Amino acid sequence: MSNWPKHDMSFLEGRRQRRLRRTGWMRNMLRETVLTPHDFILPIFVEAGTNSRSQIKTMPGVERVSVDLAVDVARAAAAEGIPALAIFPNTEDERRSENGSEAFNPDNLTARALRAIKEKVPEIGLITDVALDEYSSDGQDGLVRDGEILNDETVEVMVKAALMQARAGADIIAPSDMMDGRVAAIRQALDAEGFEQVAIMSYSAKFASAFYGPFREAVGSGSRLVGDKRTYQLDFANSDEAMREVDQDIAEGADMVMVKPGMPYLDIVRRVRDEFDVPVFAYQVSGEYAMLKLAGAAGAINGEAAMMESLMAFKRAGCDGVLTYFALEAARVLNR
Ligand code: PBG
Repeated sequence: MSNWPKHDMSFLEGRRQRRLRRTGWMRNMLRETVLTPHDFILPIFVEAGTNSRSQIKTMPGVERVSVDLAVDVARAAAAEGIPALAIFPNTEDERRSENGSEAFNPDNLTARALRAIKEKVPEIGLITDVALDEYSSDGQDGLVRDGEILNDETVEVMVKAALMQARAGADIIAPSDMMDGRVAAIRQALDAEGFEQVAIMSYSAKFASAFYGPFREAVGSGSRLVGDKRTYQLDFANSDEAMREVDQDIAEGADMVMVKPGMPYLDIVRRVRDEFDVPVFAYQVSGEYAMLKLAGAAGAINGEAAMMESLMAFKRAGCDGVLTYFALEAARVLNR
């Protein structure tokens, strides 16, 4: 062994990268990215009833909860330092319709959750989704006529829904419908009603993705969905197109933009971070959560380690924050 290794290592010229990874304290000292509970936004699914909860089969550990229990979730999230919740309703079947008018019913599930949480847990921020799929009978995000998704007519409904949400206490409106012009229309309407302080986080680069599967079960739109969403959500082969969407949303008045899904789209996050000067978020969507959870449960990966690694990757890619179903669990890991 004495003449081993026998390579001449002089090509290193003294540059040894591993010197900086040798000990825990050195790694701590040199870490480029930090993750804190303030980086997480927790999406919650709200259902009708009181003291009612139901497990979402494909998302182990995630439940739909009634408004009263949503208040408890909000309290737990705030206690861990999570700054905001994103509210998604599972609208009762009899309230869904072709025109999705439940979206702007001032007593819908979203509105009731907003009022209850605002009253009981005022320290947490509330973000609301603006799209029709949670209220319509066909699972599409826009109004449908003869199989076509109508743009300008849908925007009118989105504006009504956003105004209703602002009146009920939403702090940030998050349009996820991908109709053209919705950000400007919502901004105008909010300002006209005195809601200058209500911000817009636009789902700017939202791709037509297979990773939304479990979410559609959670809000009850999956089994209804007729066709697909490719005439409004982005083609996942495209990156320049995503930059045009972001550019236009900022011009229309978006305060923050979002990339969705998350993990397979970190290249898009990095481009937005480099090319624009607005806060950027990513949504680690339901299918991503399911993959990590189910692989962890199967013993294929260390679930907790993979969760933390995935969340750090969002930060490293340039995100200001992540919408993630892991928010509470990850915050607890960070706080312990
Ligand atoms: C649309 C909406 C979707 C998600 C958030 N908002 C689904 C879709 O566009 O079909 C998906 C989120 C997730 O998968 O976790 N209102």
